[in-house]
Amino acid sequence: MSDNPLRGNGRMGLVPDPVSIVILGVTGDLAARKLVPGLFSLAHEGHLPPVYNIVGFARRDWSDDYLREQMKEAVSEHGRHRPGDNANLWETFAANLTYVQSNFDEPEGYTRLDERLKELAEERDMPDNRLYYLAAPPGFYDTIIGHMGEAGIAAGQAGGWRRIIIEKPFGHDLESARRLNDFVHDIFAEDQIYRIDHYLGKETVQNILVLRFANAIFEPLWNRQYVDHVQITVAESVGVGGRGEYYHDSGVVRDMFQNHILQLLTLTAMEAPVAFDDESIRNEKVKVLRALHPLHDDNILTETVRAQYGTGSLNGEQVPAYLAEEDVPDSSETATFAAMRWMIDNWRWQGVPFYVRSGKRLVTKSTAISVVFKRPPHLLFAGTNGDMHANVLTMRIQPNEGIALRFEAKQPGQGIRRRRVTMDFDYGASFGISSPPEAYERLLLDAMLGDATLFARSDEIELAWAFVDPVIEAWHNGDGPALQTYEAGTWGPEGADRLLNEDGRHWYRV
Ligand code: BG6
Repeated sequence: MSDNPLRGNGRMGLVPDPVSIVILGVTGDLAARKLVPGLFSLAHEGHLPPVYNIVGFARRDWSDDYLREQMKEAVSEHGRHRPGDNANLWETFAANLTYVQSNFDEPEGYTRLDERLKELAEERDMPDNRLYYLAAPPGFYDTIIGHMGEAGIAAGQAGGWRRIIIEKPFGHDLESARRLNDFVHDIFAEDQIYRIDHYLGKETVQNILVLRFANAIFEPLWNRQYVDHVQITVAESVGVGGRGEYYHDSGVVRDMFQNHILQLLTLTAMEAPVAFDDESIRNEKVKVLRALHPLHDDNILTETVRAQYGTGSLNGEQVPAYLAEEDVPDSSETATFAAMRWMIDNWRWQGVPFYVRSGKRLVTKSTAISVVFKRPPHLLFAGTNGDMHANVLTMRIQPNEGIALRFEAKQPGQGIRRRRVTMDFDYGASFGISSPPEAYERLLLDAMLGDATLFARSDEIELAWAFVDPVIEAWHNGDGPALQTYEAGTWGPEGADRLLNEDGRHWYRV
């Protein structure tokens, strides 16, 4: 259980206790694009405590003032709320920013950090609560965590709590994830560790649980008796951009399937938890991961598809092939697209395929989950016009956040003619918001409040790796399906269509 008294449904007071947020790797992209803009939005919306510090820790020779300038630019560019929206608030926020310069492998740096944090707590008459955010490249995780342990700045103290948020990727495979878990557990207790998967911070992802469990009409149908199959699509139109080196090593399975897609799957497939708290929800998610039918040498060939983008055109612009991207080796066999058929061996889902696909440089950015129901058992209207269509419930995770239900209706006029119609719920229109809070805002706030519900537990991470590792290995050893090429700006390779067509199904456009 988390140590948060406001856990679960009782998260009424959404202002955490005074805290120092330490961003390890503050000079990097993540801090500039997500973390500091996210914290400023929290300040803007009144979710930061009256006293807080944001302490940057990194190698570059920056001063407090330079950090403030850099962050002002970053928030102006990436923030949902900009410094210009409220100049006084920005001044206060900026005054809370400080910088501690150190190499990650320099033990004294961590002692200096500790001293700085103690001083700040004393000067500002606040408890020495600390939220560390590991935003450095994963290659430094061991070094940083090890030094934090040695400097004694990890252990909770009477004067305040200590928590750490660890960015993805958490390990590179099962073995390294286990090793990292063991290593971190030597220094931090599990309830101090917040492993981030930003998909869990998305409003629409959390709404999967609300849709399923706050309504009475969906859950009775949410099983093998009524559901024909489920489709999960995470399509991106961006390419690998400036991350060629990382991506060549990672590929789409590590980048998207091991984390985000498995999170979407577990929330869609899990049983109702007994309570809305971190333990109960994570226990149910873990059960789904344990019930996934393993992919192994005998079925990887038939159940998975892998492909890489070639050149093509997107929004009228010619874009380069993956192999022509910066820092990608000419011979890279890394998949930028994958589609798979997953089965869940339990009472609820036995025999119901979950088709999942994700890729870069697809025609559009779109993440959606479609639950496709079985056709009516008696085709009363079979002799009328056209085929009978299945009912489809589509949860649009992003963009155009919403939920759509497709069903058959009688077309007005004489006789019986049917037509497919859609009932649509649109977040923006219903709640009158143009931009929902960023995932990072929610997750930062939850970690400050001590609510770990939307973070991954160690067993979850290890089970996810155990499931995808055989695929990565088989593909790497050339035992999997041949690597296909797809034209940028399309929905991916033909093989992905074939995966469904051979079952008499097709992908729904999302
Ligand atoms: C990240 C991946 O975790 O998620 C990226 O490393 C990917 O490759 C990104 O583009 C997608 O996130 P979002 O929120 O844009 O769907």
